[in-house]
Amino acid sequence: MRPNVIAGNWKMHKTRAQAQEFMQRFLPQIPQSDPIQPRRIVLCVPFTDLEGVIHEMAAHQSDGVSVGAQNLHWEDAGAFTGEISGPMLAEMGIRYVIVGHSERRQYFGESDATVNLRLQAAQRHHLTPILCVGETKQIRDEGQTESWILNQLHQDLEGVDQQNLIIAYEPIWAIGTGDTCAPEEANRVVGLIRQNLDNPNVVIQYGGSVKSGNIDEIMAQPEIDGVLVGGASLDPAQFARIVNYQALTKV
Ligand code: PGA
Repeated sequence: MRPNVIAGNWKMHKTRAQAQEFMQRFLPQIPQSDPIQPRRIVLCVPFTDLEGVIHEMAAHQSDGVSVGAQNLHWEDAGAFTGEISGPMLAEMGIRYVIVGHSERRQYFGESDATVNLRLQAAQRHHLTPILCVGETKQIRDEGQTESWILNQLHQDLEGVDQQNLIIAYEPIWAIGTGDTCAPEEANRVVGLIRQNLDNPNVVIQYGGSVKSGNIDEIMAQPEIDGVLVGGASLDPAQFARIVNYQALTKV
């Protein structure tokens, strides 16, 4: 059975003190591990918060949350001002890293070619990359969603090991807009992604305006193995409700 992976993406939010406060309020609310349907919690935080979040977990004697980064460079070291590499993350005990988030693609010139290199770098250092794919509103309106997603997958996954990979389907029009993709439609696209993978057991998440009010319905979809949560992961009470989603019968 595929594990369910609930990941938060803090983006460029929270100073170290704010991260500490979040962890102190959030950690007591995480669910007990469920041997029948494993539920993993990942928090992808700014580089400057990584150490503090790991420290808080140790202080609470908790291993219920895995810590992730939001990006990495494809080289192990070099003259790349402002970048962070795989060995730097691996040395800190980081297990996950987001790659190809639409904000990286939109604002920082990330291309499918660099996404592909970053995915390979993550795997080289035994990090599990969370690859984000998704279409704009315009692409959806033009009826090009399927071909767009399949093209992204084709380019991004060239030479990438599908045994150590998470994919997040994040329609760009649903990110930070409150305009969630209908759960059945998200399920359909996630199913399409799965059909086009070499390994059908890859964990595939949905992301885009996931909140405490829609998490149960999203997680009830049979193809969806988890969520990538932006805004709603910043508030400890709301994110606690999300990680404690009700396991409705898969429809
Ligand atoms: P959102 O962001 O939950 O705030 O829509 C999701 C994401 O960007 O991963």
